[in-house]
Amino acid sequence: MEFIFLIFLAVFIFLIYLLNCTLNYFSFGIKKLPLPPGTLGWPYIGETFQLYSQNPNLFFAAKVKKFGSIFKTHILGCKCVMIASPAAAKLVLVTKAHLFKPTFPASKMRMLGKQAIFFHQGDYHTKLRKLVLRAFMPESIRNMVPDINSVALDTLCSWEGRLINTYQELKTYTFNVALLSILGKDEVSNREDLKKCYYVLEKGYNSMPINLPGTLFYKAMKARKELAQILAKIISSRRETNEIHNDLLGSFMGDKEGLSDEQIADNIIGVIFAARDTTATVLTWILKFLGENPCVLEAVTNEQEEIIKSKEECGEEMVLSWSDTKKMPMTKRVIQETLRVASILSFTFREAVEDVEFEGYLIPKGWKVMPLFRNIHHSPENFADPEKFDPSRFEVSPKPNTFMPFGSGTHACPGNELAKLEMLVFVHHLTTKYRWSMMGPQNGIQYGPFPLPQNGLPIKLFPKT
Ligand code: HEM
Repeated sequence: MEFIFLIFLAVFIFLIYLLNCTLNYFSFGIKKLPLPPGTLGWPYIGETFQLYSQNPNLFFAAKVKKFGSIFKTHILGCKCVMIASPAAAKLVLVTKAHLFKPTFPASKMRMLGKQAIFFHQGDYHTKLRKLVLRAFMPESIRNMVPDINSVALDTLCSWEGRLINTYQELKTYTFNVALLSILGKDEVSNREDLKKCYYVLEKGYNSMPINLPGTLFYKAMKARKELAQILAKIISSRRETNEIHNDLLGSFMGDKEGLSDEQIADNIIGVIFAARDTTATVLTWILKFLGENPCVLEAVTNEQEEIIKSKEECGEEMVLSWSDTKKMPMTKRVIQETLRVASILSFTFREAVEDVEFEGYLIPKGWKVMPLFRNIHHSPENFADPEKFDPSRFEVSPKPNTFMPFGSGTHACPGNELAKLEMLVFVHHLTTKYRWSMMGPQNGIQYGPFPLPQNGLPIKLFPKT
């Protein structure tokens, strides 16, 4: 009996040993792979100083030249793999997106709200995305054109004859459009309170995360609480009236499975954050590029005047409509080329959720992975003479995965149609009714955090006579 037991024990131990060897073989198979080429710099600080002491694009470009399109580095206490090849970016963002989760500093998550769409993967993310896309798909935003027209016209009228900081003024335009898409035309009084709180939040967003009375961070966190309270008030008054709303809040509140007030607030604050500065920055670059390229400006102006002329000839109502915005191919190419040249989101962040084998290299679990949109958009392999502003290059579609101003895959920008629409409407009124002169030095770029023309592009705007 004892003998049989010993045989069983030996077989059992042998099987465990075999299983262990098999598991080790597979995991070592990955672990044995080399890390991507590159340097990690000094202990702890890594290469943070090299990145931030110069234009970040020079840092990325020098690394790509030395190590190729996948390389490792160490920034702000994190080990990173940076990716500048279109195929590899697609793998991270689309094909193997489940292996790379979005990642943000904890202080930014606290400020925007932990339940906001950007920070999630899986079922909760899919549910939010469906609700956000429902509010921003073409069929939903086409009805917004008359209101966007009014906001654009009011904005331009308020600039007449003044020396303005284009970026700061455009932030008001894009804020107003974002609020229209989120709350519709209602909530006029709450809208001003929302704006006031958001401005405080914005000021603290890039401050040191020290939550003590008097600090910008503390004030921002307080404003964030107030924002959530205002939104809760709006939600409760909508619940009382039971009306159907086709805006983003309506989409969130209409969800059968139900989002909590807190989830709704986090996502509304998140969408304002995603929508406002991005679109204002791109529009600022459009004004700059049009100002510097008179032939392009003339072609855009002709296209826009043609729309007015044909409306006059057909006796149509003289208000820009959704279908008019579909007759602007030249203006669309200007927007595409601006998105490419300015590449305002130079890169994005993901984090490997497990050890990943990637093009013959190991990306260890926990390392950050950064697809470098700007390098892809500025590579001569993808775009000939890449530093030149030339909208005509978009007469032909770019090669697959080489043009990703709105990202790609599961987290690609759900607001891209609205962003394009508000830019088209603005450029229509700008070029048909106004001329402008750029004031002061023209060559500098500031980072706030997006690359922006120096001093926000000061201009003077005059009505066309
Ligand atoms: C020209 C303006 C804009 C640009 C260049 C832009 C760019 C982007 C990019 C690159 C991403 C993906 C980031 C990543 O993968 O990590 C993104 C995500 C996002 N954008 Fe935009 N965006 C713009 C305007 C807007 C607008 C107007 C809205 C809303 C109305 C919006 C809402 C969002 C949201 C909610 C996400 C997160 C999506 C998710 O995580 O599933 N964006 N945007």
